[in-house]
Amino acid sequence: MQKTKIAPSILSADFAAMGAAIEKLEQCGADLIHCDVMDGSFVPRITFGSQMVSAIRPHTKLPLDVHLMVVDPIAKVKDFVEAGADYITVHAEACGERLAEALRFIRSFGVKCGAVISPDTPFAAAESALELCDMFLVMSVYPGLGGQKFIERTLPKAEQAKNYILSHGLNCLVEIDGGVTEENAARIVGAGVDVLVAGNTVFRSADMAKTIAALRGGV
Ligand code: DX5
Ligand code: ZN
Repeated sequence: MQKTKIAPSILSADFAAMGAAIEKLEQCGADLIHCDVMDGSFVPRITFGSQMVSAIRPHTKLPLDVHLMVVDPIAKVKDFVEAGADYITVHAEACGERLAEALRFIRSFGVKCGAVISPDTPFAAAESALELCDMFLVMSVYPGLGGQKFIERTLPKAEQAKNYILSHGLNCLVEIDGGVTEENAARIVGAGVDVLVAGNTVFRSADMAKTIAALRGGV
């Protein structure tokens, strides 16, 4: 059984001291750095663009897991590849018919790719794209804001995705994003999720290393 990976979201970090925050996450045992890119159109809020990704790149050897909450993600991919992203995930809702094209385009740069579905989007909307994915991100909150409450009805979609991946012998991680806490982490992992994104829970912790280990199940 693969070790559960913890991907803290920098959405909850101190943006005025991001480099130090990244180094601290690595020291505290994070497995990936989750970068929530928001363009103010796909979601109301604007967070940061590829320049933030290139700024944090030299501060860590951890994989940068870039979650594009943007319209026309295909047009933005190259900037994030050049900024040093290791994973780029794109919303099925933003890509529509071009989801497979987006995933192939990301992979053409040698960067790992993934599809994302929001809480109201059925698993079926991305099912056929899974064979092209290195990561499948199930949003457990509505995209656009950190610190929201975990939406329970999204967990079965993660389980459905994991069962599909296993039954088709695919090599794709299932990631969940939003509202992950020490209280619900074990249940989420039990549903087959490989990567937990956590912003608030990690950054408001008095002991980040302890919290990251606790989210991972104590290891
Ligand atoms: C929503 C963001 C958040 C963030 C995690 O668009 O993607 O889900 O990463 O936020 P927390 O862990 O604070 O719920
Ligand atoms: Zn995210």
